[in-house]
Amino acid sequence: MISRVKGTRDFLDLTLFNFIADQARAHFVRHNFTEIATPILEPMELFKRSLGAYTDVVSKEMFVIEPRGDDAEQICLRPEQTAPTIRAFIENGIQVTPWKVFTIGPMFRYERPQKGRYRQFNQINTEIVGTNSIAQDAQLIAMLDRFFHETLGINSYAILVNFLGCADDRTAYRTKLETFLKDNSAAQDLCGTCKARIETNIMRVFDCKSPKCQEILQRAPHITDNLCTPCTNEWQELQDVLPQLSVSFSFAPNLVRGLDYYNKTVFEFVSGDLGAQNAFCGGGRYELASLLGAREQLPSLGVGIGVERLMLLLEPLLNTLPLPQRPKLLAVLPLSPAQNVLAMLIADTLHAAGLAVDPLLDGGSVKSMMRSANRMGATYALIIGDEEQREGFITVKSMVDGAQEKVTQANLLAYFQK
Ligand code: HAM
Repeated sequence: MISRVKGTRDFLDLTLFNFIADQARAHFVRHNFTEIATPILEPMELFKRSLGAYTDVVSKEMFVIEPRGDDAEQICLRPEQTAPTIRAFIENGIQVTPWKVFTIGPMFRYERPQKGRYRQFNQINTEIVGTNSIAQDAQLIAMLDRFFHETLGINSYAILVNFLGCADDRTAYRTKLETFLKDNSAAQDLCGTCKARIETNIMRVFDCKSPKCQEILQRAPHITDNLCTPCTNEWQELQDVLPQLSVSFSFAPNLVRGLDYYNKTVFEFVSGDLGAQNAFCGGGRYELASLLGAREQLPSLGVGIGVERLMLLLEPLLNTLPLPQRPKLLAVLPLSPAQNVLAMLIADTLHAAGLAVDPLLDGGSVKSMMRSANRMGATYALIIGDEEQREGFITVKSMVDGAQEKVTQANLLAYFQK
């Protein structure tokens, strides 16, 4: 047997997945977002430059395809959607901002698989490219809160928010953090990766999962205590506006979100029902455009929603969701191969009228075909034997109460339409 690749999964029933995607589409379109799609393959350089070479995603988790033939560059399977969206914005010469777009599709990260963590997973991702207003950040968080709570009926989550300031604020903060970590005797107990991060990209220490490192970092200075005046005002505005939109949030001073491109607002939606991988949605504000080749900087903001984690949250709530029902199925039973073509033609006529019909063409006894029809959940069996074929009628048998009647082929469609 050849097994699926580690960290990937087979979806044998897409009802819930498609329900989430359809609800997200409707919700985001109501908020004036347009659905776009970008390739799964992107240049490796795109992510090195935007996510940061020292992030876990770029340094450890990329699926890279080495150049071959005439290709000059490394390409990779996209690990996230923000950098590709900004690349598409620049490459397609989009002029009108704010550009509000969303995508739904697979991402790839070479992570250690566990509950809710896969190497191929799906994200619903939205970006608003070219927006300065912090009110947009509040509006985005409120839009997501309404989607999870009101549209999908999830209650068990918290919204964590932090504010990372502007580039100058972070430069000043890095020095403060370095002083804290180097002067702190407990810093000797930081793991090797964190010690290395102090030298390479110090804010990435907050990504460490080690409880010992996390304990030390609990006492680290807060970046929000070190903001310039405009950023202090924007952080205050965000904290003031969210409650006015009835969004409850918690301040999370150590939330830095694992990717280098964030600037100012960062947020995550987390749920204790998910276990260790508790974030099912995360995003924030960033400035990537000039880094990726645009002539001007374009303040932007966006979010990625993990579809598999959302599915884990929704599985216990399945019977409260208005999931689409499969249409009622009719099974057509030709009693011998001589009736196969007639069975297919009858199915054809009923399909054309929009009914769900499956002719059973694998033969067998009436009993075994009735068993198959039952297993398929058919509501009626349409039985065609020699006599039915000769006389031009069908024996229609209810799978619910076994009642049986003869219906002429000419009346069959009208019979089921009523
Ligand atoms: P992220 O936090 O890396 O952000 O991913 C967003 C969401 O994707 C996570 O909250 C989680 O639900 C899901 N996710 C991430 N990794 C995995 C995995 N290995 N298995 C299953 N689900 C996973 C981003 O990707 C940013 N690009 C979001 C963003 C958009 N920021 C601004 N715009």
